[in-house]
Amino acid sequence: MDTTRFTDSRVAITGGAGGIGQAIARRLIAEGAEVYALDRRGLDKLPEGVAGIEMDLGSPASVAAVVAGLYADDDRPVHLVNSAGIVEDDVAAIDMPIEQFDAVIGVNLRGVFITCQAFGRELIARGGGAIVNIASMSGNAVVNFPQKQSAYNTSKAAVTALTKSLAVEWGTSGVRLNALSPGYVDTPLNHLKADMHDIWKRDVVVGRFATPDEVAASVAFLLSDDAKYYIGAELLMDGGYSLR
Ligand SMILES: NC(=O)c1ccc[n+]([C@@H]2O[C@H](COP(=O)([O-])OP(=O)(O)OC[C@H]3O[C@@H](n4cnc5c(N)ncnc54)[C@H](O)[C@@H]3O)[C@@H](O)[C@H]2O)c1
Repeated sequence: MDTTRFTDSRVAITGGAGGIGQAIARRLIAEGAEVYALDRRGLDKLPEGVAGIEMDLGSPASVAAVVAGLYADDDRPVHLVNSAGIVEDDVAAIDMPIEQFDAVIGVNLRGVFITCQAFGRELIARGGGAIVNIASMSGNAVVNFPQKQSAYNTSKAAVTALTKSLAVEWGTSGVRLNALSPGYVDTPLNHLKADMHDIWKRDVVVGRFATPDEVAASVAFLLSDDAKYYIGAELLMDGGYSLR
């Protein structure tokens, strides 16, 4: 690992207190970055060296206040990783209350748009930067089985489409956006569905979930100059699940 790849860089991670968010924070710190974890909970349990900032990405005002605070006395660009996300717990579309559909789209899609816009404006004003959005194999590669999660799957397909759209709009201003689509990862997001884990693993070619650290390594790559020619790409890392 290059411990200097992000020296002098600032990176904000939404959902930074979550399973994948914390792994990304640890990885980027190990590579020299200054890291801010933006989350609505869990900020008291962050890895050493991570600055926790309370933020609800359902609220444009909350996001705007965080962005203003980050630039209050430091003009260096703040790169962005969108890792916040929620999933409905195995709900058939035919029975899903519209409020539940709205809640998932609200965090996973609307929230990503709000943060991309707020952070993207500042990056454009400073000549560029990088944004990585965590989508999912559930967006474009598979429909998960056996659980039903139509809102989540839809939101993640849209995150990839949004990433591509913004990559084209902002690419000429030096802002690179890319999406990372993991398969199953061992984090609290999946713990409620423990009875399904064996079914999921059966179809992963390598027979196991990804670790949060493996996801973090790919995020670090997309965020870094090593990925300079990646513009609006979706990287799929699913252990071969979608091939079966
Ligand atoms: N775990 C997996 O198997 C898996 C697979 C593919 C993609 N993903 C995606 O990776 C990302 C991270 O997932 P994870 O496994 O770390 O989940 P997680 O539940 O451990 O973490 C998600 C974090 O998002 C935060 N969050 C939710 N709503 C928020 C809001 N309104 N404002 C601010 N923060 C909010 C939560 O507080 C939590 O800390 C998500 O986007 C998820 O969809 C996860």
